[in-house]
Amino acid sequence: MKWILLVFGSVCLLDVVEDSFVHGKRNARTVTFSRTGRGQSRRRRDTWTTEKERFTECNTPLSVKDRELLRSHTHETGFHGDDGSSFTLTWAGNGTGIIFVLSTISVPSDSFYEGGSSRLYRSEDYGKSFHDISHAINNTFLNSYFGISAGHGNPQPVILTANLPFTKDPGGKIFTSMDAGLTFRSVQLQFHPAQAIQFSLLDPKYLVVISIDDGLWLSEDFGNNWSKVHEGVHTFTWGSENTLFFSSSPNGTVEAARRGELILRRTCDFGKTFDTIAENIFSFGHIGSFLFTSVMEKLGSPRVIYVSKDQGDHFKRAQLPSATTEQFYSVLDADEDMIFMHVDNPGEDTYYGTVYASDEQGILYSKSLERHLFGGEGKSDFTNITSLRGVYLTNILEEGGCIRSVISFNRGGRWRYLKKPENVDCPDMSKKCNLHIHGEHSHFSGVTPMTPSSEPTAIGLVIGHGSVGDSISAARPDVYVSRDGGYTWWGTLRGPHHYSILDSGGLIVAVEARRDRGISSIKFSTDEGQCWKTFNFTDHPFFLAGLASEPSSSTMNISIFGYRLDDNHKPMWVAVTIDFEHLLTRECNDQDYVTWLAHSNYSSNPKTDGCLLGYKETFRRLKTLSACRNGRGYVVSRQQSPCICTSEDFMCDYGFYWHENSSACLPQPDFLNQTQDFCLNVDLQTTGYRRIPGDKCKGSFSPPRNEEAHQKLCGNVTSSDSHTEIPPAILALIVVCSLGIICLVIIAAYMITSRRINCGQRSPEYNFSVLQIQEDDLSVNNESTPNGKLNGFQVQEDSDDVSLIKQ
Ligand SMILES: *[C@@H]1O[C@H](CO)[C@@H](O)[C@H](O)[C@H]1NC(C)=O
Ligand SMILES: *[C@@H]1O[C@H](CO)[C@@H](O)[C@H](O)[C@H]1NC(C)=O
Ligand SMILES: *[C@@H]1O[C@H](CO)[C@@H](O)[C@H](O)[C@H]1NC(C)=O
Ligand SMILES: *[C@@H]1O[C@H](CO)[C@@H](O)[C@H](O)[C@H]1NC(C)=O
Ligand SMILES: *[C@@H]1O[C@H](CO)[C@@H](O)[C@H](O)[C@H]1NC(C)=O
Ligand SMILES: *[C@@H]1O[C@H](CO)[C@@H](O)[C@H](O)[C@H]1NC(C)=O
Ligand SMILES: *[C@@H]1O[C@H](CO)[C@@H](O)[C@H](O)[C@H]1NC(C)=O
Ligand SMILES: *[C@@H]1O[C@H](CO)[C@@H](O)[C@H](O)[C@H]1NC(C)=O
Ligand SMILES: *[C@@H]1O[C@H](CO)[C@@H](O)[C@H](O)[C@H]1NC(C)=O
Ligand SMILES: *[C@@H]1O[C@H](CO)[C@@H](O)[C@H](O)[C@H]1NC(C)=O
Ligand SMILES: *[C@@H]1O[C@H](CO)[C@@H](O)[C@H](O)[C@H]1NC(C)=O
Repeated sequence: MKWILLVFGSVCLLDVVEDSFVHGKRNARTVTFSRTGRGQSRRRRDTWTTEKERFTECNTPLSVKDRELLRSHTHETGFHGDDGSSFTLTWAGNGTGIIFVLSTISVPSDSFYEGGSSRLYRSEDYGKSFHDISHAINNTFLNSYFGISAGHGNPQPVILTANLPFTKDPGGKIFTSMDAGLTFRSVQLQFHPAQAIQFSLLDPKYLVVISIDDGLWLSEDFGNNWSKVHEGVHTFTWGSENTLFFSSSPNGTVEAARRGELILRRTCDFGKTFDTIAENIFSFGHIGSFLFTSVMEKLGSPRVIYVSKDQGDHFKRAQLPSATTEQFYSVLDADEDMIFMHVDNPGEDTYYGTVYASDEQGILYSKSLERHLFGGEGKSDFTNITSLRGVYLTNILEEGGCIRSVISFNRGGRWRYLKKPENVDCPDMSKKCNLHIHGEHSHFSGVTPMTPSSEPTAIGLVIGHGSVGDSISAARPDVYVSRDGGYTWWGTLRGPHHYSILDSGGLIVAVEARRDRGISSIKFSTDEGQCWKTFNFTDHPFFLAGLASEPSSSTMNISIFGYRLDDNHKPMWVAVTIDFEHLLTRECNDQDYVTWLAHSNYSSNPKTDGCLLGYKETFRRLKTLSACRNGRGYVVSRQQSPCICTSEDFMCDYGFYWHENSSACLPQPDFLNQTQDFCLNVDLQTTGYRRIPGDKCKGSFSPPRNEEAHQKLCGNVTSSDSHTEIPPAILALIVVCSLGIICLVIIAAYMITSRRINCGQRSPEYNFSVLQIQEDDLSVNNESTPNGKLNGFQVQEDSDDVSLIKQ
C-alpha cells in the first residue's frame, strides 16, 4: 500500500509500503459479485484470435433421463425490482445451507455518503429460494463493505452493521441474531465501527471492533454492552485462546508518518489489563503459531522482523534482510511448523522479491525462491495446493520480463517448471515448453475469472487456468486439471471458466466465462475433468457474475449468479441453484475406491518412493471413472508410514544456497556482510544443512559436513553497522510532517505502470501492470498506456466481471 502525503498542495511520495502479515485466503465465507456492465454496451474482449487447436475438450452427451432429473432439481430465483450493483453472499454456520445476500447500490464516488444496501435476502435451502428479509431490520441500509459478519458455532451468530452517515448520530447501529438470522435485535452503539465486527474464535459472544476514531471496543455479551478498552488503536488480531493483540500509538493518535512508533499490546482478560510486548513496531500479525512484528529500530530506518512463538512473551529477531521504506515483507503462508516469507527486492517497484522458508522457530530463514513475482497491489500468486501435502505453486518474473510458473513438491525445498500436458502441443518447438498457471495477479487484472483451486478433501485434484509455451501468455487462457497434485496436467476446457469442486472431488462443475453474451449451460464432470457433460439450466440466458457453493467441498448444490434484462430493459439479478445429489444417486462403496501413494514417482526403491518430509501417505481415493456420491459425511482416509532420512530431508541452512554443480550447500556471498547477528546470537554449529521443519524422518543420516563453509561465514566477525541509514530526503519529510504541518494522507491513485514484455515472437505480448490503490477510478484507458496496445493484463473499466472478492 502506498501513502501519498500532501504537504501544502505539493505531493511528496513517501513510500511506506505496507507489510502484510495476514492470510488473505483462509476464510472464504463471503463472496461478492458485481454487475457493472449493462449487458450490451461493453467492449468485447471475447473476440480472441483462434490459434492452432490446443486440445480437444472431451464432451459426452447427457442422457434424456439425467437431463430431466437435473431439470427437476434446478431452482431459479429472479430478484425482481432489485437494482443493486453488487451482491455479497455470506454463508452462516457450518452445513446449515443458510445464505445471506446483501444487495448494495453504488453511489457517486465524490459523495461522503458511502452507499449502502438496498436489500437483504436470506436462504435456508442452499440457495434454492431466497426471501427478502429487509423488513426484519426495518429496511435499514447496511454497510456495503462490512454489513454482515457471520460467526461459527451453534446456534449461528450473525451481526449486521448499519450504514449511517457519520455526522448525525452519536453512534452506529448493529443488529444481532443468535438464530442464524430468523430474528434480529437492534443495538444502538456509542461509536461508529470502522470495520467488520469480529468474533472471538473460541466463543462468539466476545466481539471486538475498532471505531472510526481509533478506539478499541469490546463486548462480552454478544453486542449488548460495549466498552472502550483502548484509544489510538491501529489494528488488532486474535491470538490463541482469548488473547487479543493490538498496535496502538503512544500518543493516542495514529499518524501515517509515525507508524514505526506504534507499540504492541496484549490483553488476556478482554481489556481489563494490558501489557506492552513490543515497541517501535510498524505492523504485526499472528498466523499459525507465530506472532510477527516489523520493527523500525529508529523512526524511518529499515524495518526488521521479530518473531515470537509464545504469544509475545519473548521475541527474537528473524535472520532476514531488512526492508527499507520502499520494500515490504509479506507472509505468503504459515502453519504451526514454518513460515513462507516474501521479502521485496530493493529498489522501487521491482515487482519481485525473494521467498524465504523459516525454521520451526520462525527465526532462521533460507532462500526458497528468487525473483518471485509480487505486484504492488499486495497480490501474490503463491498458492498452497491443499489437496496434496507440501505442494506449492507460484510464478516468477524472470530476467527479461517473462513470467513462468514453478511448482515445489517438497514445501519450497526445490522448485521446477510444470510439465507440459500430454494432450497439448507446444506453440513453438524451438523454445522451452511448459505449462504456466495464472494466479492472483491474472485474476485481479481480469485475465482469468478464477484463481487455481484445490480442496483438502479432494486428494490430488488441482484445477486452474493456464497456457502452454515458453512463458505465461495473457491470451485466452484454458482450464487445466491435475489429479496427482501438480506432477502431471491435462488440458480440459477451452477458454476461461468459473469452476467449483463439489462432493469432495467427486464432481467438478464449470461455467464458461463470457462477457459478450449470456450463458445458459453448465458443464460437469464426475471423472476429475477428463470428460464433461453439458446441462442447459435455463431457457433464458443471463450474464454470468459467478458461482457460489458452501465453503466446504462436501456440498452438491451449486448456485449460478448473474443478471438479465427484464421487461423494462433494466438489469435484474438471477440465481439458479442446481442440486446434483439426485444425479449421483449411488453412494460410493469399497469398489469405487483405490489406494494411492501420494508423491510416488514409481521409483525402483520402494523404501523412499513417495517419501516427503520424512513420511509417506497412502490415500483411499475415488476411482476416476466411478460416478457415485462421496456424500456429506465423507472423511479422507489416509495411512502414514515413516521414511528413513536421506539428503532430501535437509535443506540449506541460513546463509547457504544450493549449488547445482557441486550438489552441495555453499555460503551465500551476499550474506557474508550480514552474518554478525547470526554468528553471535545463534548457537548453531552449522554445516550448511538443516533438517526441514516438520520433517519426521527416522535414522541417523548426516548431511555432508562443510566446516570450511561455516568458518567462511562466521570465522571473521567484523563490527560494521548492518543498518542502512534512512535516506535524507525522507527524513526531511518526516521532520516536516511532524512539525505540525497538516499532512493529508490519501490513498494513492491506481498507478498503472506498464512494462512491455516480449518473450519471443510467437507468444503474445504480455503486459504486466501493477495496480495500486484507488477505490473510485478504475477507468484505466488502455489506449493511453505507454505502448498503446490493448492487452489482457490490465483492468478493463467496463468489464462486467465478476470480481470474486474472497474475504
Ligand atoms: C463443519 O462440520 C463438520 C461436520 O460436522 C466438521 O467436520 C467440520 O470441522 C466443521 N467445520 C468447521 C469450519 O467448523
Ligand atoms: C423496527 O421498528 C419498530 C418500530 O419502530 C421497533 O419496535 C422494532 O424494534 C424495530 N426492529 C428492529 C430490529 O430494529
Ligand atoms: C448490560 O446492559 C444491561 C442493560 O442495559 C444492564 O442492565 C447490565 O448491567 C449491563 N451489564 C454490564 C456487565 O454492564
Ligand atoms: C508524542 O507527541 C509529542 C508531542 O507532539 C512528541 O514530542 C513525541 O515525540 C510523540 N511521540 C511519543 C512517542 O511520545
Ligand atoms: C497448506 O495447506 C494444507 C492443507 O490445508 C495445510 O495443512 C498446511 O498447513 C498449509 N501450509 C501452510 C504452510 O500454511
Ligand atoms: C442447450 O443450449 C444450446 C445453446 O443454447 C443448444 O445449442 C443445445 O441444443 C441445447 N441442448 C439441449 C440438450 O437442449
Ligand atoms: C442440497 O440442498 C438441500 C436443501 O435444498 C439439502 O437438503 C442437501 O443436504 C444439500 N446437499 C448437499 C450435498 O449439501
Ligand atoms: C524418484 O524420487 C526419488 C526420491 O525423491 C529419486 O531419488 C529418484 O531419482 C526419482 N526417480 C525418478 C524416476 O524420478
Ligand atoms: C554449472 O556448470 C555449467 C557448465 O559447467 C555452467 O555453465 C554453469 O554456469 C554452472 N552453474 C553454476 C550455478 O555455477
Ligand atoms: C561487504 O562489505 C564490503 C565493505 O562494506 C563491500 O566492499 C563488499 O562489496 C560487501 N560484499 C558483499 C558481497 O556485499
Ligand atoms: C579475516 O579478514 C581479514 C581481512 O579481510 C583476513 O586477512 C583474515 O585472514 C580473515 N580471518 C579469517 C579467520 O578468515
